Amino acid sequence: MKQFISVKDVSDINALVEKALAYKADPLKDKTLGVNKRIGLLFLNPSLRTRLSTQIAAQNLGMEPIVLNVDKEGWALEFTEGAIMNGTSVEHIKDAAPILGNYFDVLCIRTFPNLQNREDDYAEKIIHQFIKYAAVPIISLESATLHPLQSLTDLITIKESVLENNVLNNKKLKVVLTWAPHIKPIPQCVANSFSEWMTAWGEADFVITHPDGYELSNEYTKGATIINDQAAALKDADFVYVKNWSSFKEYGKVVCTDANWMLTNEKLANTNKAKVMHCLPVRRNVELSDEILDGPNSLVTKEASNRVWAAQAVLAEILELINNKAK
Ligand code: CP
Repeated sequence: MKQFISVKDVSDINALVEKALAYKADPLKDKTLGVNKRIGLLFLNPSLRTRLSTQIAAQNLGMEPIVLNVDKEGWALEFTEGAIMNGTSVEHIKDAAPILGNYFDVLCIRTFPNLQNREDDYAEKIIHQFIKYAAVPIISLESATLHPLQSLTDLITIKESVLENNVLNNKKLKVVLTWAPHIKPIPQCVANSFSEWMTAWGEADFVITHPDGYELSNEYTKGATIINDQAAALKDADFVYVKNWSSFKEYGKVVCTDANWMLTNEKLANTNKAKVMHCLPVRRNVELSDEILDGPNSLVTKEASNRVWAAQAVLAEILELINNKAK
């Protein structure tokens, strides 16, 4: 694996999930794979799970992780080609990224969309400029449009739960992504990415349900069934993934605040005893109810814990390529 920006960087999804579950069973089995290798984790936006799980994963493989909160501790970066830098930005990505590429063997970047200009956000200018100028493998820790480490984790959690609970019973798995209310405009990244991974994986009936106006970019939803009737979507579901996102069409806007879209135990009664997932952080009793989050169907803690194994599997694939090139 040369980089990890989207599911398109993965040659065999099931093999990557198996690799992650093997690390969960034996976290230190490749503890020397990354010895004498340094990984830089650059945060242009906040994080709890991603920053900690990726550091733990790197250390499990013998790497030295260094975190820089670029938004608070670094110089303000400029990403526009030909910019006359007489404003607030201090350093151009063209100057900063090659230096980072010399300091680190692998670079990881978190950068959120500004939700003001759809074309700018969906061009993924920031992560692509790191790829262009750093000349080392780049891992997305969530970008303007996608969150691949989260989606890999989600698939690991689904497959693990299927194995543990014998969910299938000879029927095809049904996975539902449902929009949920929120008080703020939230990026489409997690929803885009989950849809991209579920449709690329292709082993489940994948249904997306949302109010009118919350259609995601069809770049990521091809192959999914999309319906506005949440109750119909939830029928017989094995897994329900709950997530808010802002409008793609009326870009970055909140076009519905209907609290009836929040998942409750009453709605779960219509499912196949569905397990409930959310990437966290979650606004309790706005996006998802206490009764679900604290109840027996919630997978959210297990899901967040699995972030370590997703990051470790991806890092191992990248390290294997680096080490083979060095031979
Ligand atoms: N799910 C997730 O990415 O969590 P953090 O924003 O805390 O990293």
